[in-house]
Amino acid sequence: MSQKNLPVVVLVSGRGSNLQSIIDAMQDGRLDIDIQAVISNRPRAAALEKARQAGLDTITVDHTKFSSREEFDQALQETIDPYQPGLIVLAGFMRILTPGFVSHYHGHMLNIHPSLLPKYPGLETHRRVLENGEKKHGASIHFVTNELDGGPVVSQVEVDVLENDTTDSLAARVLEREHPLYCQAIQWIAEEKLKLDNGQVLFNGKPLNQPRIMSTKQQSPT
Ligand code: GAR
Repeated sequence: MSQKNLPVVVLVSGRGSNLQSIIDAMQDGRLDIDIQAVISNRPRAAALEKARQAGLDTITVDHTKFSSREEFDQALQETIDPYQPGLIVLAGFMRILTPGFVSHYHGHMLNIHPSLLPKYPGLETHRRVLENGEKKHGASIHFVTNELDGGPVVSQVEVDVLENDTTDSLAARVLEREHPLYCQAIQWIAEEKLKLDNGQVLFNGKPLNQPRIMSTKQQSPT
């Protein structure tokens, strides 16, 4: 384990349940990180209130105030960099990022996506999974690259699709699994177990050629 907690900036756009679970794990001493700031592109994101309640710095960089993605991402980068984070955590951050921004944080930015990538990148994953009659669904953690939801997948959790599932019931079951999945991957980075090196994911110094699958019974990061 590294001696110093990993400085982290979290980017959010909405509800903030993943943020809350990361805050809870940090405060319980289950994550060796210090959240330096929580940044939203939406001024009224519920996630900002969760961050404030936890006494964290919150900042809004409102994307509607910028005329291009490049200008928005430049402002976002200028907001993030003074915190000198070792990791950027996208926790329900619903913006497509420009190549310049992504390469600036290459290997230091994680995203959570509600599907078993490479299946179902993009939006409305739960609805599409049900429409296609899939039996399995889940969530993935990946390093962010220029391909939307296409960076190397680090870990996944699987969820059975039930016969009577609705979009909401399925989304809720996946979300419950997202929280420990994300904390686990963040802790791996904090412990320097997990790295992206020349496009190759290394886990404990060895190439990780398949995502690590979290057991559905496992609730806390290991
Ligand atoms: C989560 O389900 C997350 O996987 C998803 O947004 C939700 C945010 O919820 N992210 C994406 O779809 C990214 N493409 P939260 O704000 O309660 O954490």
